[in-house]
Amino acid sequence: MSPSPDHNAAGRQILVTSALPYANGPIHLGHLVEYIQTDIWVRFQRMRGHECIYVCADDAHGTPIMLKARAEGIEPEALIERIGHEHRADFADFRVAFDQYHSTHSPENRHFAELIYTRLRDKGHIARRTIRQAYDPEAGMFLPDRFIKGECPRCGAPDQYGDSCEACGATYTPTDLKNPVSALSGATPVEKESEHYFFQLADFAKFLRTWTASGSLQPEIRNKLNEWFQAGLSDWDISRDAPYWGFEIPDAPGKYFYVWLDAPIGYMASFKRYCESHGLDFDAWWSPDSRAELHHFIGKDIAYFHTLFWPAMLTGAGFRAPTAVHCHGFLTVNGQKMSKSRGTFIKARTYLDHLDPEYLRYYFAAKLGPGVDDIDLNLEDFIARVNSDLVGKVVNIASRCAGFIHKHFNGRLADSLPDPDLHDRFARSREEIAKLYEGREFGQAMREIMALADAANQYIDEHKPWVLAKQEGAGDRVQAVCSQGLNLFRVLMACLKPVLPRMAEKAEAFLNVPPLAWDHIAEPLTGHRINAFQPLMTRVDPAAVEQLQIASREDLATAGGEATESTQALEGGPIAGEIGIEDFARVDLRIARIIRAEHVEGADRLLRLTLDLGGETRRVFAGIRSAYDPAVLEGKLTVMVANLAPRKMKFGVSEGMVLAAGPGGKELFILSPDDGARPGMRVK
Ligand code: MSP
Ligand code: ZN
Repeated sequence: MSPSPDHNAAGRQILVTSALPYANGPIHLGHLVEYIQTDIWVRFQRMRGHECIYVCADDAHGTPIMLKARAEGIEPEALIERIGHEHRADFADFRVAFDQYHSTHSPENRHFAELIYTRLRDKGHIARRTIRQAYDPEAGMFLPDRFIKGECPRCGAPDQYGDSCEACGATYTPTDLKNPVSALSGATPVEKESEHYFFQLADFAKFLRTWTASGSLQPEIRNKLNEWFQAGLSDWDISRDAPYWGFEIPDAPGKYFYVWLDAPIGYMASFKRYCESHGLDFDAWWSPDSRAELHHFIGKDIAYFHTLFWPAMLTGAGFRAPTAVHCHGFLTVNGQKMSKSRGTFIKARTYLDHLDPEYLRYYFAAKLGPGVDDIDLNLEDFIARVNSDLVGKVVNIASRCAGFIHKHFNGRLADSLPDPDLHDRFARSREEIAKLYEGREFGQAMREIMALADAANQYIDEHKPWVLAKQEGAGDRVQAVCSQGLNLFRVLMACLKPVLPRMAEKAEAFLNVPPLAWDHIAEPLTGHRINAFQPLMTRVDPAAVEQLQIASREDLATAGGEATESTQALEGGPIAGEIGIEDFARVDLRIARIIRAEHVEGADRLLRLTLDLGGETRRVFAGIRSAYDPAVLEGKLTVMVANLAPRKMKFGVSEGMVLAAGPGGKELFILSPDDGARPGMRVK
C-alpha cells in the first residue's frame, strides 16, 4: 500500500485523475464541478513545486454509445472522435489543464485491460457462470435494465423503466414489469441464457478493509463502504455479449469487457501515453512499491466502482492501489436538479458563449468543501458573489493604486514598503491557505483570501492616496501607500492563481513579473517598474446570465432524443396572439411511428398509442377513438409533441401528444408525413 503522503515535503510526485466523461453527450456545468475542482487542486500542487501530472480521457465504450452512433447512422469510432474533440475544446476553454487527454478506445487501454484481466484470471479471481437475461429478439441483443420498459407492477403506470417506477417510487427488477417492451424495438423481451465472466470481489475483502481504513477516503464514503461490506461483496459481472461496443475478451470470442471494466483502466492508459511522449517511467508510478501518490477525483455516484472494484483489480493484478479517492456532491441550479425546461441544464459550450469561465471557476471554488454535499449554483448569488468578491474587492485594490504609480512615478514602485508587517501578515497567511487547498477546503480558502482583500482595501481607505495626491510634498507617501497596496494585491493574486489562471496571467503582465509561484511572494516587490494597468476582469452582466438561460432552453429543442426530461412541465407566461420563433423552438415536434394502437377499457374517446421515436418508446392517450379503428393506425407515421410534460390521466400517464385536425367525431385526421420521413426526425 502506498505510504501516506507528507504534505509539507517538497518534491512529491502526484498523479491526479478526474472521472472519464462518457463520449455520448456534451460536457455540462454538473461535470465541471469535478473538472474545475480537480484542476484547482492540480494547479495548486504545481505552484508549490511538486511534480503533478493530471490525466483524463473520454469513456468511449458501452451500449449507449453504440446505440447513439446507430441512431445517427455513423460508426461508433466517428461518434467518439467527434465528441472527443468537443470535450477537449470545452475543457481547454474552461482552462482545465490536463497533461494528457486520451480515450478508452485506444491501444494502450486495450493492452492494460487485457493484461489486468489475464492476470486476474490466472490467479483464479475470474469465475464463469451461465445466467438468464432479458433479450430483445427483434434487435437481436440482450437488454440492459434501462432499455426495458413496461407497466409498474404496483401502480400500473405505463412506460416505466426496468428498475423503478417514476409515478409511485416502487423498485423492482425488469422481470416484475407488466407487459414489458424493449425500448429499442418495442418487442416483448424473452429470457435467454448466456455465459458471463465475473470478478470475485470477495477475494479481496481483507485487503479492502485495510485499504479503507488507511485514510484514503472521506468519512462519509468510509461509512458507505462499511455498509457495503456488511451487505457482502458480490461477484461483479464484467462481460457483455455481442453486439457490444468495447474490447473483446481475449479468450472469449463474442464476449466483451463491460464498459466499467476498462473505464478506470483508462487512467493508466492515458498516463502511459503521457509517459511515452515525455520519457517518464510508467512502473515508477504504478508498481506496488511506488513512492508516487495517486489521487482520483470523482462524483459520489461512482464511488462503488472506485473504492471497491478498482483497488481490488489493481492489487489483484500486481499494481499499486490509489492513495486517495476524493468524492464530491452533485450540482443543483437554483436549488433544483438541473432542468432543461427551466434553462438550467447548461452545457459548457453554451456557458462559454455568454460568460467568462473564470466566474464559474471562482463560484465553484467558493462553494466547494472537502465533503460530498451537493453544491448549488444560484444564479443571482453567482452574479452578486463574483461581482462583489473579484471585481469589488480584488481587482479594486489594483485599480485604485495603479493609476497613481503611473501618473506620478513613471510606473515605479517605492524602494521599501511603509507597512512591512502588514505585508508579512499577508505572506504568512499563505501557509494556512495552502493547508486549505491541500485539504480541498476551497470555500474556506476563498473566505480567507477575501478577508485579506478586505484588509487591503481598508488599508487603502485609511491612507487615502487620492487625498495625499492633492497635498503638497506628499508624493513619497502616495508612492509608498500604492506600492503597499499593489504588493498586497500581488500576494492575493498568487493565492487565487489556482482558481483564476487567466486573471493571474493578466496580473503578472501588469505587475511585470515572472509567473507567480507560491514561494516567491514572501519578498515584496520594491523599486520595480510595473506595466500599464489593464482591466483584469469585468463585472458579470445579469443580462448575459439571462441570455444564457434562454439559450439553454433553446438547446433543449435541439438536444434530440437525449434524456428528455419528462417530469417537468414547460414553464413560461401565457402567450397572447403571436409567438416568437424562440417560443416555437420550444415545442419539440417529432416524427413517430405508431407501433401499437389499442382501445382503453372504460374510455370511450381514447386510444392508447405506443409510439416509436427512433429508439425511444412513448405511450400516448389520444382522443381519436371516434374516428379510427386501431388496426388502421398501426404502422402509420405521425407527428407528435415530444416535449409535452407527461400528464397523469385516469387510465395512466400520457407522454406527449399526437397532432390531429378536424371538428371531431368521425371527422378527425391525424397528421401523417410523406414517405421517407423516419421516426425521431425533428419537424421544423
Ligand atoms: N464514464 C463514467 C466515469 C468513468 S471513470 C473511470 C461517468 N461519466 S459521466 O460523464 O456520467 O460523469 C463524469 C463525472 O462527472 C462523474 O464523476 C460524475 O459524478 C460527474 N458528474 C456528472 N454529473 C454531475 C452533476 N450534475 N454534478 C456533479 N458532478 C456530476 O460517470
Ligand atoms: Zn408505480
